[in-house]
Amino acid sequence: MDNKDKTAVGSYRRPGVHFSPPSGWVNDPNGLIYFGGYYHLYYQYYPDGLTHGAMHWGHARSVDLLHWEYLPVALYPDEHGEIFSGSMVYDRENTSGFGTDGNGPLVAVFTHHLERGGTVIQSQSLAYSLDGGNSFLKYAGNPVLNPGLRDFRDPKVFFHEPEGRWIMVLSAGQEVQIYSSVNLKEWEYRSTFQSGDQEPGEIWECPDLFPMTPENGDTEKTSGQEQVWILTFSVIIPDRKYSCVRYFTGTFNGSSFTSKTPAGEKKILDLGYDFYAPVTYENVQSRRILMGWQNRWAYAERLPAVKYRGTMSFPRELKLMRSGTDYRLAQYPVRELLDAAAPYPAQRDGAAVLLPGQPCYITLELPLRDETREFCLTNGHNCLKILVNTNTKELEINRTSVFPEDLGKEWLCRKTCLREIKHPESLRLLVDTNSVELFWGEGEAVCSMLYYAKAAFTKFLTDHQEVRYELYLAGAEGREKPDESMQKK
Ligand code: FRU
Repeated sequence: MDNKDKTAVGSYRRPGVHFSPPSGWVNDPNGLIYFGGYYHLYYQYYPDGLTHGAMHWGHARSVDLLHWEYLPVALYPDEHGEIFSGSMVYDRENTSGFGTDGNGPLVAVFTHHLERGGTVIQSQSLAYSLDGGNSFLKYAGNPVLNPGLRDFRDPKVFFHEPEGRWIMVLSAGQEVQIYSSVNLKEWEYRSTFQSGDQEPGEIWECPDLFPMTPENGDTEKTSGQEQVWILTFSVIIPDRKYSCVRYFTGTFNGSSFTSKTPAGEKKILDLGYDFYAPVTYENVQSRRILMGWQNRWAYAERLPAVKYRGTMSFPRELKLMRSGTDYRLAQYPVRELLDAAAPYPAQRDGAAVLLPGQPCYITLELPLRDETREFCLTNGHNCLKILVNTNTKELEINRTSVFPEDLGKEWLCRKTCLREIKHPESLRLLVDTNSVELFWGEGEAVCSMLYYAKAAFTKFLTDHQEVRYELYLAGAEGREKPDESMQKK
Protein backbone atom coordinates (compact mmCIF):
# COMPACT_ATOMS: atom_id res chain seq x y z
CA MET A 1 0.00 0.00 0.00
CA ASP A 2 1.35 3.44 -0.87
CA ASN A 3 1.24 5.60 2.22
CA LYS A 4 3.10 8.59 0.84
CA ASP A 5 1.57 11.70 2.24
CA LYS A 6 2.10 14.81 0.13
CA THR A 7 2.54 16.93 3.25
CA ALA A 8 5.26 14.63 4.55
CA VAL A 9 8.43 16.31 5.76
CA GLY A 10 10.95 13.51 5.50
CA SER A 11 9.25 10.67 7.28
CA TYR A 12 7.75 12.98 9.90
CA ARG A 13 4.36 14.21 8.87
CA ARG A 14 2.32 16.73 10.81
CA PRO A 15 -0.40 15.37 13.05
CA GLY A 16 -3.95 15.71 11.76
CA VAL A 17 -5.88 16.65 14.90
CA HIS A 18 -3.15 17.69 17.32
CA PHE A 19 -1.73 21.20 17.46
CA SER A 20 1.79 21.63 16.13
CA PRO A 21 3.54 25.03 15.72
CA PRO A 22 4.24 26.54 12.28
CA SER A 23 7.97 26.04 12.84
CA GLY A 24 10.43 26.05 15.71
CA TRP A 25 10.12 24.67 19.22
CA VAL A 26 7.00 24.38 21.36
CA ASN A 27 6.47 23.30 24.96
CA ASP A 28 3.73 24.12 27.50
CA PRO A 29 0.27 25.40 26.55
CA ASN A 30 -0.22 28.89 28.05
CA GLY A 31 -3.02 31.39 28.48
CA LEU A 32 -5.80 28.95 27.58
CA ILE A 33 -8.99 30.98 27.34
CA TYR A 34 -12.25 30.87 25.41
CA PHE A 35 -13.02 34.36 24.21
CA GLY A 36 -14.86 35.97 21.29
CA GLY A 37 -15.99 32.59 19.93
CA TYR A 38 -12.46 31.16 19.84
CA TYR A 39 -10.43 28.79 21.94
CA HIS A 40 -7.13 30.64 22.22
CA LEU A 41 -3.96 28.68 22.62
CA TYR A 42 -0.82 30.58 23.57
CA TYR A 43 2.21 28.40 23.95
CA GLN A 44 5.85 28.32 25.04
CA TYR A 45 7.57 29.05 21.77
CA TYR A 46 11.09 29.42 20.43
CA PRO A 47 10.63 30.37 16.78
CA ASP A 48 14.33 30.37 15.89
CA GLY A 49 15.34 26.81 16.66
CA LEU A 50 14.24 23.27 17.37
CA THR A 51 15.23 23.20 21.04
CA HIS A 52 14.20 25.26 24.07
CA GLY A 53 15.55 28.80 23.55
CA ALA A 54 14.59 32.36 24.48
CA MET A 55 10.93 31.82 25.22
CA HIS A 56 8.06 33.70 23.58
CA TRP A 57 4.32 33.12 23.68
CA GLY A 58 3.17 31.81 20.32
CA HIS A 59 -0.54 32.13 19.52
CA ALA A 60 -3.17 30.12 17.68
CA ARG A 61 -6.95 29.97 17.87
CA SER A 62 -9.67 27.51 16.98
CA VAL A 63 -13.45 27.38 16.95
CA ASP A 64 -13.60 23.61 17.41
CA LEU A 65 -10.35 22.59 19.16
CA LEU A 66 -9.49 20.54 16.07
CA HIS A 67 -8.48 23.05 13.42
CA TRP A 68 -6.02 25.74 14.50
CA GLU A 69 -5.28 29.07 12.89
CA TYR A 70 -1.77 30.41 13.43
CA LEU A 71 -1.57 34.01 14.64
CA PRO A 72 1.37 36.35 15.21
CA VAL A 73 3.60 35.82 18.25
CA ALA A 74 1.82 37.36 21.26
CA LEU A 75 4.69 38.04 23.68
CA TYR A 76 8.39 38.56 23.03
CA PRO A 77 11.22 38.44 25.59
CA ASP A 78 12.11 41.87 27.03
CA GLU A 79 14.42 43.56 29.55
CA HIS A 80 12.81 41.59 32.42
CA GLY A 81 13.59 38.28 30.77
CA GLU A 82 12.11 35.49 28.69
CA ILE A 83 8.39 34.80 28.73
CA PHE A 84 7.78 31.57 30.60
CA SER A 85 4.44 29.86 31.25
CA GLY A 86 1.32 31.53 32.60
CA SER A 87 -2.37 32.05 32.11
CA MET A 88 -4.98 34.48 30.78
CA VAL A 89 -8.09 35.99 32.35
CA TYR A 90 -10.93 38.07 31.05
CA ASP A 91 -11.07 41.10 33.34
CA ARG A 92 -14.71 41.81 32.60
CA GLU A 93 -15.10 44.51 35.28
CA ASN A 94 -11.82 46.17 34.34
CA THR A 95 -10.43 45.72 37.86
CA SER A 96 -6.93 46.22 36.46
CA GLY A 97 -7.80 49.52 34.80
CA PHE A 98 -6.09 48.34 31.60
CA GLY A 99 -9.36 48.54 29.70
CA THR A 100 -12.34 50.86 29.91
CA ASP A 101 -15.76 50.42 31.49
CA GLY A 102 -17.69 48.12 29.21
CA ASN A 103 -14.51 46.93 27.50
CA GLY A 104 -12.63 44.78 29.96
CA PRO A 105 -9.20 43.60 28.81
CA LEU A 106 -7.76 40.12 28.49
CA VAL A 107 -4.85 40.00 30.92
CA ALA A 108 -1.95 37.58 30.57
CA VAL A 109 -0.21 36.72 33.83
CA PHE A 110 3.12 35.08 33.09
CA THR A 111 6.59 34.40 34.44
CA HIS A 112 9.53 36.57 33.49
CA HIS A 113 12.63 34.37 33.53
CA LEU A 114 15.82 36.39 33.95
CA GLU A 115 19.28 34.85 33.79
CA ARG A 116 22.18 37.15 34.65
CA GLY A 117 25.71 36.27 35.60
CA GLY A 118 24.75 32.69 36.43
CA THR A 119 21.83 33.77 38.63
CA VAL A 120 18.22 33.06 37.73
CA ILE A 121 15.32 35.14 39.01
CA GLN A 122 11.73 34.34 38.16
CA SER A 123 9.01 36.93 38.71
CA GLN A 124 5.38 37.35 37.66
CA SER A 125 4.30 39.98 35.15
CA LEU A 126 1.30 41.22 33.21
CA ALA A 127 0.42 42.03 29.61
CA TYR A 128 -3.01 43.09 28.40
CA SER A 129 -4.97 42.98 25.20
CA LEU A 130 -7.78 45.29 24.14
CA ASP A 131 -8.41 43.51 20.83
CA GLY A 132 -9.56 40.09 21.98
CA GLY A 133 -6.14 38.55 22.50
CA ASN A 134 -4.49 39.37 19.18
CA SER A 135 -1.98 41.94 20.38
CA PHE A 136 -0.64 42.72 23.84
CA LEU A 137 0.94 45.59 25.73
CA LYS A 138 3.20 44.80 28.64
CA TYR A 139 2.34 46.50 31.92
CA ALA A 140 4.79 49.31 32.73
CA GLY A 141 4.85 48.25 36.40
CA ASN A 142 6.26 44.75 35.67
CA PRO A 143 7.11 42.59 37.49
CA VAL A 144 4.11 42.53 39.84
CA LEU A 145 5.36 39.73 42.10
CA ASN A 146 9.06 39.29 42.69
CA PRO A 147 10.44 37.82 45.92
CA GLY A 148 13.74 37.15 44.07
CA LEU A 149 13.45 33.37 43.81
CA ARG A 150 14.88 30.96 41.27
CA ASP A 151 12.01 28.46 40.99
CA PHE A 152 8.95 30.63 41.22
CA ARG A 153 6.79 30.34 38.15
CA ASP A 154 3.79 29.39 36.02
CA PRO A 155 0.96 31.49 37.55
CA LYS A 156 -2.57 30.26 36.92
CA VAL A 157 -5.15 32.92 37.76
CA PHE A 158 -8.94 32.75 38.11
CA PHE A 159 -11.65 34.88 39.67
CA HIS A 160 -13.08 33.51 42.90
CA GLU A 161 -16.66 34.76 43.12
CA PRO A 162 -17.31 34.16 46.86
CA GLU A 163 -14.26 36.25 47.82
CA GLY A 164 -14.62 38.67 44.93
CA ARG A 165 -10.88 38.38 44.31
CA TRP A 166 -8.44 37.06 41.79
CA ILE A 167 -6.60 33.97 42.95
CA MET A 168 -3.18 32.97 41.68
CA VAL A 169 -1.62 29.55 42.16
CA LEU A 170 2.01 29.21 41.23
CA SER A 171 4.81 26.77 41.78
CA ALA A 172 7.64 27.66 44.14
CA GLY A 173 10.21 24.87 44.23
CA GLN A 174 8.47 21.92 45.85
CA GLU A 175 5.27 23.66 46.75
CA VAL A 176 2.30 25.49 45.34
CA GLN A 177 1.75 29.00 46.69
CA ILE A 178 -1.55 30.83 46.62
CA TYR A 179 -1.90 34.64 46.29
CA SER A 180 -4.91 36.90 45.91
CA SER A 181 -5.52 40.30 44.37
CA VAL A 182 -8.31 42.76 43.73
CA ASN A 183 -6.75 44.33 40.65
CA LEU A 184 -4.26 41.78 39.23
CA LYS A 185 -1.44 44.23 39.97
CA GLU A 186 -0.99 43.88 43.74
CA TRP A 187 -0.76 40.37 45.10
CA GLU A 188 -1.08 39.24 48.67
CA TYR A 189 0.34 35.92 49.89
CA ARG A 190 -2.39 33.61 51.26
CA SER A 191 -1.06 30.09 51.76
CA THR A 192 1.22 27.25 50.71
CA PHE A 193 0.34 23.71 49.71
CA GLN A 194 2.82 20.87 50.19
CA SER A 195 2.12 17.23 49.45
CA GLY A 196 4.15 15.85 52.34
CA ASP A 197 5.66 13.18 50.11
CA GLN A 198 8.04 15.21 47.96
CA GLU A 199 11.22 13.50 46.80
CA PRO A 200 14.44 15.43 47.48
CA GLY A 201 15.23 17.73 44.56
CA GLU A 202 11.94 17.43 42.73
CA ILE A 203 10.48 20.61 41.29
CA TRP A 204 6.82 21.41 40.73
CA GLU A 205 5.63 23.27 37.67
CA CYS A 206 2.45 24.56 36.03
CA PRO A 207 -0.19 24.25 38.79
CA ASP A 208 -3.92 24.69 38.26
CA LEU A 209 -6.78 24.91 40.75
CA PHE A 210 -10.46 24.62 39.83
CA PRO A 211 -13.79 23.35 41.18
CA MET A 212 -15.76 20.40 39.83
CA THR A 213 -19.07 18.78 40.65
CA PRO A 214 -18.96 14.98 40.96
CA GLU A 215 -20.78 13.05 38.26
CA ASN A 216 -21.90 9.85 39.90
CA GLY A 217 -21.71 7.74 43.01
CA ASP A 218 -20.51 4.28 43.78
CA THR A 219 -22.23 4.08 47.08
CA GLU A 220 -24.51 7.07 47.33
CA LYS A 221 -26.21 9.48 45.00
CA THR A 222 -24.71 12.93 45.03
CA SER A 223 -26.95 15.94 45.09
CA GLY A 224 -25.04 17.49 42.19
CA GLN A 225 -24.45 20.55 44.36
CA GLU A 226 -21.31 19.42 46.06
CA GLN A 227 -18.12 21.10 44.88
CA VAL A 228 -14.74 19.50 44.97
CA TRP A 229 -11.57 21.46 44.23
CA ILE A 230 -8.87 19.93 42.13
CA LEU A 231 -5.22 20.95 42.38
CA THR A 232 -3.00 19.72 39.54
CA PHE A 233 0.72 20.25 38.95
CA SER A 234 3.61 18.72 37.03
CA VAL A 235 6.60 17.22 38.85
CA ILE A 236 10.12 16.84 37.50
CA ILE A 237 13.47 15.90 38.99
CA PRO A 238 16.66 17.83 38.09
CA ASP A 239 18.13 15.25 35.68
CA ARG A 240 14.66 15.10 34.07
CA LYS A 241 14.64 11.29 34.13
CA TYR A 242 11.38 11.29 36.04
CA SER A 243 8.34 13.49 35.53
CA CYS A 244 4.60 13.14 35.96
CA VAL A 245 1.41 15.13 36.43
CA ARG A 246 -0.23 14.80 39.85
CA TYR A 247 -3.57 15.91 41.16
CA PHE A 248 -5.21 16.23 44.55
CA THR A 249 -8.89 16.54 45.37
CA GLY A 250 -9.99 18.68 48.31
CA THR A 251 -11.47 21.98 49.39
CA PHE A 252 -10.59 25.61 48.78
CA ASN A 253 -11.84 28.34 51.09
CA GLY A 254 -10.67 31.30 49.04
CA SER A 255 -7.35 31.30 50.79
CA SER A 256 -5.95 27.79 51.11
CA PHE A 257 -6.38 24.39 49.50
CA THR A 258 -6.85 21.42 51.83
CA SER A 259 -6.30 18.00 50.34
CA LYS A 260 -8.83 15.26 51.06
CA THR A 261 -6.87 12.76 49.01
CA PRO A 262 -6.00 9.92 51.37
CA ALA A 263 -2.33 10.04 52.47
CA GLY A 264 -0.21 7.65 50.45
CA GLU A 265 -2.55 7.80 47.47
CA LYS A 266 -0.77 9.18 44.39
CA LYS A 267 -3.14 10.36 41.70
CA ILE A 268 -1.56 10.66 38.29
CA LEU A 269 -3.36 12.33 35.39
CA ASP A 270 -1.80 10.39 32.53
CA LEU A 271 -0.18 6.98 32.74
CA GLY A 272 1.81 7.34 29.51
CA TYR A 273 5.20 8.93 28.90
CA ASP A 274 4.11 11.89 26.82
CA PHE A 275 1.96 14.31 28.75
CA TYR A 276 3.25 17.26 30.73
CA ALA A 277 2.42 20.79 31.95
CA PRO A 278 -1.36 20.57 31.37
CA VAL A 279 -3.70 23.36 32.40
CA THR A 280 -7.40 23.99 31.88
CA TYR A 281 -9.26 26.57 29.81
CA GLU A 282 -10.65 29.69 31.44
CA ASN A 283 -13.99 31.27 30.60
CA VAL A 284 -15.65 28.10 29.29
CA GLN A 285 -19.20 27.56 30.54
CA SER A 286 -20.22 24.19 31.96
CA ARG A 287 -17.23 22.05 31.07
CA ARG A 288 -13.56 21.86 32.05
CA ILE A 289 -11.15 21.38 29.16
CA LEU A 290 -7.56 20.33 29.77
CA MET A 291 -4.65 20.48 27.37
CA GLY A 292 -1.05 19.47 27.94
CA TRP A 293 2.24 19.34 26.10
CA GLN A 294 2.46 15.96 24.39
CA ASN A 295 6.02 15.32 25.36
CA ARG A 296 8.57 14.49 28.04
CA TRP A 297 11.52 16.66 29.06
CA ALA A 298 13.75 13.55 29.30
CA TYR A 299 14.02 13.43 25.49
CA ALA A 300 11.87 16.28 24.13
CA GLU A 301 14.81 18.17 22.62
CA ARG A 302 16.14 15.07 20.86
CA LEU A 303 12.97 13.81 19.20
CA PRO A 304 13.08 13.39 15.42
CA ALA A 305 12.13 16.76 13.89
CA VAL A 306 12.49 18.66 10.68
CA LYS A 307 10.67 21.98 10.68
CA TYR A 308 9.14 22.08 14.13
CA ARG A 309 9.44 20.09 17.32
CA GLY A 310 6.58 19.41 19.72
CA THR A 311 2.82 18.94 19.77
CA MET A 312 -0.03 19.48 22.21
CA SER A 313 -2.19 16.70 23.57
CA PHE A 314 -5.67 16.45 22.12
CA PRO A 315 -7.92 18.62 24.37
CA ARG A 316 -9.75 16.58 27.01
CA GLU A 317 -12.91 17.20 28.93
CA LEU A 318 -12.65 16.36 32.61
CA LYS A 319 -15.28 14.62 34.72
CA LEU A 320 -15.07 14.01 38.43
CA MET A 321 -16.13 10.53 39.47
CA ARG A 322 -16.90 9.58 43.02
CA SER A 323 -15.10 6.43 44.06
CA GLY A 324 -16.17 5.33 47.55
CA THR A 325 -15.34 8.29 49.78
CA ASP A 326 -12.70 9.51 47.35
CA TYR A 327 -12.79 11.13 43.90
CA ARG A 328 -11.05 10.45 40.65
CA LEU A 329 -10.78 12.45 37.46
CA ALA A 330 -11.90 10.89 34.22
CA GLN A 331 -10.85 12.35 30.88
CA TYR A 332 -12.36 12.08 27.41
CA PRO A 333 -11.41 13.66 24.10
CA VAL A 334 -13.57 16.79 23.81
CA ARG A 335 -16.88 16.09 22.06
CA GLU A 336 -15.77 18.13 19.03
CA LEU A 337 -13.70 15.11 18.04
CA LEU A 338 -16.82 12.97 17.80
CA ASP A 339 -18.87 15.75 16.20
CA ALA A 340 -16.41 15.89 13.34
CA ALA A 341 -15.68 12.16 13.15
CA ALA A 342 -17.03 10.27 10.17
CA PRO A 343 -17.72 6.58 10.69
CA TYR A 344 -15.26 4.68 8.53
CA PRO A 345 -16.50 1.43 7.01
CA ALA A 346 -13.35 -0.44 7.92
CA GLN A 347 -12.84 -3.86 6.40
CA ARG A 348 -11.58 -6.85 8.28
CA ASP A 349 -8.84 -8.88 6.73
CA GLY A 350 -8.72 -11.85 9.05
CA ALA A 351 -7.99 -10.36 12.44
CA ALA A 352 -6.75 -7.12 10.90
CA VAL A 353 -8.81 -3.99 10.59
CA LEU A 354 -7.61 -1.92 7.67
CA LEU A 355 -6.79 1.67 8.61
CA PRO A 356 -7.21 4.69 6.37
CA GLY A 357 -3.70 6.07 6.98
CA GLN A 358 -5.25 9.19 8.53
CA PRO A 359 -5.96 10.20 12.12
CA CYS A 360 -8.60 7.89 13.46
CA TYR A 361 -10.51 7.12 16.60
CA ILE A 362 -11.01 3.43 17.35
CA THR A 363 -13.59 2.38 19.92
CA LEU A 364 -13.31 -1.20 21.18
CA GLU A 365 -15.51 -3.42 23.26
CA LEU A 366 -13.40 -6.17 24.82
CA PRO A 367 -14.65 -9.44 26.26
CA LEU A 368 -14.38 -9.52 30.05
CA ARG A 369 -12.05 -12.42 30.66
CA ASP A 370 -8.94 -13.07 32.62
CA GLU A 371 -6.74 -13.07 29.56
CA THR A 372 -4.33 -10.53 28.19
CA ARG A 373 -5.50 -9.28 24.82
CA GLU A 374 -2.99 -8.04 22.34
CA PHE A 375 -3.57 -5.29 19.79
CA CYS A 376 -1.17 -3.90 17.32
CA LEU A 377 -1.00 -0.86 15.07
CA THR A 378 1.24 -1.68 12.15
CA ASN A 379 2.44 -0.51 8.75
CA GLY A 380 3.52 -4.01 7.79
CA HIS A 381 7.09 -3.48 9.02
CA ASN A 382 6.89 -1.89 12.45
CA CYS A 383 4.24 -1.96 15.09
CA LEU A 384 3.03 -0.38 18.27
CA LYS A 385 1.69 -3.04 20.61
CA ILE A 386 -1.01 -2.66 23.22
CA LEU A 387 -1.64 -5.40 25.78
CA VAL A 388 -4.69 -5.20 28.02
CA ASN A 389 -6.04 -7.41 30.76
CA THR A 390 -9.60 -6.50 31.72
CA ASN A 391 -9.42 -8.58 34.89
CA THR A 392 -6.12 -7.51 36.43
CA LYS A 393 -6.49 -4.06 34.81
CA GLU A 394 -2.95 -4.13 33.58
CA LEU A 395 -1.94 -2.25 30.49
CA GLU A 396 1.21 -2.32 28.40
CA ILE A 397 2.11 -0.09 25.46
CA ASN A 398 5.19 -1.28 23.67
CA ARG A 399 6.72 1.07 21.11
CA THR A 400 10.07 -0.71 20.83
CA SER A 401 10.00 -0.85 17.03
CA VAL A 402 8.54 2.63 16.53
CA PHE A 403 10.54 4.83 18.90
CA PRO A 404 14.20 5.89 18.73
CA GLU A 405 16.11 3.60 21.05
CA ASP A 406 18.92 6.13 21.51
CA LEU A 407 16.55 8.41 23.45
CA GLY A 408 16.67 5.89 26.28
CA LYS A 409 15.67 2.24 26.43
CA GLU A 410 13.55 2.91 29.51
CA TRP A 411 11.06 4.80 27.36
CA LEU A 412 10.32 1.99 24.92
CA CYS A 413 7.68 0.19 26.88
CA ARG A 414 5.15 1.42 29.42
CA LYS A 415 3.51 -1.06 31.79
CA THR A 416 0.96 0.20 34.22
CA CYS A 417 -2.13 -0.78 36.14
CA LEU A 418 -5.16 1.11 37.39
CA ARG A 419 -7.37 -1.03 39.57
CA GLU A 420 -10.20 1.51 39.82
CA ILE A 421 -11.40 1.11 36.23
CA LYS A 422 -15.09 0.25 36.34
CA HIS A 423 -15.70 -0.66 32.71
CA PRO A 424 -12.42 -2.18 31.51
CA GLU A 425 -14.21 -3.64 28.50
CA SER A 426 -14.26 -0.19 26.95
CA LEU A 427 -11.09 0.98 25.24
CA ARG A 428 -10.67 3.94 22.90
CA LEU A 429 -7.67 4.95 20.89
CA LEU A 430 -7.01 8.27 19.24
CA VAL A 431 -4.34 7.48 16.67
CA ASP A 432 -2.64 10.37 14.90
CA THR A 433 0.66 10.81 13.08
CA ASN A 434 3.24 10.29 15.84
CA SER A 435 0.90 9.72 18.77
CA VAL A 436 -1.58 7.38 20.37
CA GLU A 437 -3.82 8.47 23.24
CA LEU A 438 -5.56 5.60 24.94
CA PHE A 439 -8.71 6.17 27.01
CA TRP A 440 -9.66 3.19 29.11
CA GLY A 441 -12.90 2.47 30.96
CA GLU A 442 -14.90 5.64 31.44
CA GLY A 443 -11.72 7.64 30.97
CA GLU A 444 -10.27 6.87 34.41
CA ALA A 445 -7.05 5.71 32.76
CA VAL A 446 -5.47 7.75 30.00
CA CYS A 447 -2.17 6.92 28.44
CA SER A 448 -0.38 9.19 25.94
CA MET A 449 2.51 7.88 23.88
CA LEU A 450 4.43 9.31 20.93
CA TYR A 451 5.72 7.06 18.17
CA TYR A 452 7.80 7.54 15.04
CA ALA A 453 6.99 4.89 12.44
CA LYS A 454 8.62 5.14 9.01
CA ALA A 455 5.22 4.94 7.28
CA ALA A 456 1.65 5.47 8.45
CA PHE A 457 -0.06 2.55 10.16
CA THR A 458 -2.27 0.61 7.73
CA LYS A 459 -3.67 -2.09 9.99
CA PHE A 460 -4.99 -2.55 13.46
CA LEU A 461 -4.54 -6.18 14.47
CA THR A 462 -6.84 -7.60 17.09
CA ASP A 463 -6.04 -11.03 18.48
CA HIS A 464 -9.61 -12.21 18.42
CA GLN A 465 -12.70 -11.90 16.24
CA GLU A 466 -14.69 -11.42 19.44
CA VAL A 467 -13.35 -7.91 19.90
CA ARG A 468 -16.00 -5.46 18.71
CA TYR A 469 -14.74 -2.25 17.22
CA GLU A 470 -15.85 0.91 15.44
CA LEU A 471 -13.60 3.20 13.52
CA TYR A 472 -13.98 6.91 12.85
CA LEU A 473 -11.97 9.24 10.72
CA ALA A 474 -10.93 11.93 13.15
CA GLY A 475 -11.24 15.50 11.99
CA ALA A 476 -13.20 14.42 8.91
CA GLU A 477 -16.08 16.60 7.86
CA GLY A 478 -18.77 13.96 8.53
CA ARG A 479 -21.26 15.18 11.09
CA GLU A 480 -22.75 11.83 12.01
CA LYS A 481 -22.07 11.00 15.64
CA PRO A 482 -20.90 7.61 16.80
CA ASP A 483 -23.88 5.83 18.44
CA GLU A 484 -22.00 5.02 21.52
CA SER A 485 -20.55 7.90 23.46
CA MET A 486 -17.71 7.57 25.91
CA GLN A 487 -19.88 8.92 28.62
CA LYS A 488 -21.92 5.78 29.00
CA LYS A 489 -22.99 5.06 32.52
C1 FRU B 1 7.37 23.31 32.15
C2 FRU B 1 8.29 24.52 32.18
C3 FRU B 1 7.68 25.63 33.04
C4 FRU B 1 8.33 26.86 32.50
C5 FRU B 1 8.43 26.54 31.04
C6 FRU B 1 9.63 27.12 30.36
O1 FRU B 1 7.56 22.51 31.04
O2 FRU B 1 9.56 24.15 32.67
O3 FRU B 1 7.86 25.44 34.42
O4 FRU B 1 7.60 28.02 32.74
O5 FRU B 1 8.45 25.13 30.92
O6 FRU B 1 9.57 26.98 28.98
